[in-house]
Amino acid sequence: MKPKVLVARSVFPATLERLRAQFDVEDNPDDIIYSKPQLIERLHGKAGAFTTGSERIDAEVLDANPQLRVVANMAVGYNNFDIPAFTVRGVLATNTPDVLTETTADFGFALMMATARRMAESEHFLRRGEWTRWAYDMFTGSDVHGATLGILGMGRIGQGIARRGALGFGMNVIYHNRSRLSAEQEAPIGARYVDKATLLREADHLVLVLPYSPQSHHVIGAAELAQMKPTATLTNIARGGIVDDAALAAALRERRIAAAGLDVFEGEPSVHPDLLTVPNVVLTPHIASATVATRRAMAELAADNLVAALTGGTPPTPINPEVIGRR
Ligand code: GLV
Repeated sequence: MKPKVLVARSVFPATLERLRAQFDVEDNPDDIIYSKPQLIERLHGKAGAFTTGSERIDAEVLDANPQLRVVANMAVGYNNFDIPAFTVRGVLATNTPDVLTETTADFGFALMMATARRMAESEHFLRRGEWTRWAYDMFTGSDVHGATLGILGMGRIGQGIARRGALGFGMNVIYHNRSRLSAEQEAPIGARYVDKATLLREADHLVLVLPYSPQSHHVIGAAELAQMKPTATLTNIARGGIVDDAALAAALRERRIAAAGLDVFEGEPSVHPDLLTVPNVVLTPHIASATVATRRAMAELAADNLVAALTGGTPPTPINPEVIGRR
């Protein structure tokens, strides 16, 4: 008998087909976002699950489904998983790193540029029919080339953005991270490690690329925004909750910073109503990894993990590899 697997959201038909060849698959063709009780019920009898960031898997979900052996997340971030709860129960968790790094770095850089050069705000002006003449100060923004790029969270994606800034746009790169990069990693991009206060004070364009955890909750709030230059921009492609969105909306409205670019939001898909009314913010619906090729690669990697974990293979990208072989 084939192991039973839940595919919790709609995915590429080819990925589903591949999983059906190995497993007895329950899919979600209507792409319903399951409530916790629904998720618990759907997971009954399943040995594995294919999830996205919208499914929260915690101790309660795992305890209700003790037969579950692996959950493969189609995302690099896994703040929707309670990893200690997985590990103590011997359940494997996997994610999709690397395959999305360059695509996400492209988007982070693009969002930062769109923010600095006021692309969304000026497009809205044009669409409203308000463009009647040229003016010397119409939508003047701030330069990206040669400016100081600040990166908070210098993992793979942060380094990708830094590389684009330093090598493509002659930016001066400063960063803060839990751990400092090696000299070999810093040298090609001329990246300078600084403390958080220096990063906030010196960055012309600050980009957030750190994982969400209780420690990174509201890492950027009113006090941090107050330390930034009034001409600075802030770009968040990391996770909602890292920025205090209400405090950011107030800072944008009062022009305490120049502009923000946001791909992620506290409580998304809801967006803080004040962010919807301030003009100097570029808003996108959590699409930093969204190219066809990258989303395919993410789906395939999540499937690789699921197949390997349930067929005695070696899952390529485990989050808690210490549980492998324990059950
Ligand atoms: C997207 O946000 C991801 O974590 O892959």
